[in-house]
Amino acid sequence: MIEEIQQYINEIESFHTTDVSETESFRIKFLGKKGILNELFSRFKDVPGPEKKEVGLALNLLKNAANNKLNSLRENTAAQDQKQEFTDFTQPGNPIENGSRHPVSIVRNRIIEIFKRIGFTLSSGPEIEDDWHNFTALNLPEYHPARDMQDTFFIEKDPDILLRTHTSSVQIRYMENQKPPIRILSPGRVYRNEAVSARSHAMFHQIEGLYIDKDVSFADLKQTLQYFTTELFGKSQIRLRPSYFPFTEPSAEVDVYWGLETETDYKITKGTGWLEIMGCGMVDPNVLQNVGIDPDTYSGYAFGMGIERIALLLYQIGDIRLYFENDVRFLEQFQAEFGW
Ligand code: DAH
Repeated sequence: MIEEIQQYINEIESFHTTDVSETESFRIKFLGKKGILNELFSRFKDVPGPEKKEVGLALNLLKNAANNKLNSLRENTAAQDQKQEFTDFTQPGNPIENGSRHPVSIVRNRIIEIFKRIGFTLSSGPEIEDDWHNFTALNLPEYHPARDMQDTFFIEKDPDILLRTHTSSVQIRYMENQKPPIRILSPGRVYRNEAVSARSHAMFHQIEGLYIDKDVSFADLKQTLQYFTTELFGKSQIRLRPSYFPFTEPSAEVDVYWGLETETDYKITKGTGWLEIMGCGMVDPNVLQNVGIDPDTYSGYAFGMGIERIALLLYQIGDIRLYFENDVRFLEQFQAEFGW
């Protein structure tokens, strides 16, 4: 009998539950009217005299063990019940934090939206390009010195494959497949083999514009750019400074008159009031010829700008690296207006 009692004690000690009905079953099994303890006590009278003392002691141990266990089980389940009872359904839910768009996306979308209103549609091309679309067709034949303007990542095994250095490659892809009139905007990533610093990055974003039709003139280009700067910056004074790009003739840099009202204006315009925002020009007849469009019938303009540069002007962010570090403290400061 001693052994039997010891087994029950072991069983009680290793028993655990937080469930109310299992606790009740435990009580019935050991401490109920027809439970184990009552049954053992009723057998106690048959225990031979000399063993009575030892068995009695063991029985008491068992009884205490059962009672203690029951108490602690009840404490547990009561605590559980209480927890359930005190769930406060009037408390506000866990807030869902609003995300924000990346500043590069915000600016890109604003630019797209402005050009969409005057009939430009979107077009994209691959970031891994071939020499033809990135250079040769754009009037930059092999060994042309202007290739030096854009330090390029080449694929070692195949010098024909490269990471596009500008979105101008999309012009070629589009013109090869579509007949004029053409009016497209091509945003996307571009790559340059440059050391990362506050002012340059090996990857950044550009937006390219292209308009090809009969009788497109330089005046159309200027008018369009003026509309653009007015819409984006609220600044309508621009100047086109003669420049050189192999794919346009004539070519120009676009400056916008920013003004000299604040100290920052002085700083970012270096005291001139003018800011360079993009390159542009009339599409070179050689480029049109390269894609099978007759330059005697059609003409057009093109322009290209860096999105981070525009964002820098809109948000006064002087270090391009900030855009790509993905620090939430930086990113959460930019809230797009609805729809951008
Ligand atoms: N592709 C030029 C660059 O990356 C930017 C550019 C200049 C694009 C003039 C054009 C353009 O379409 O007409 O620096």
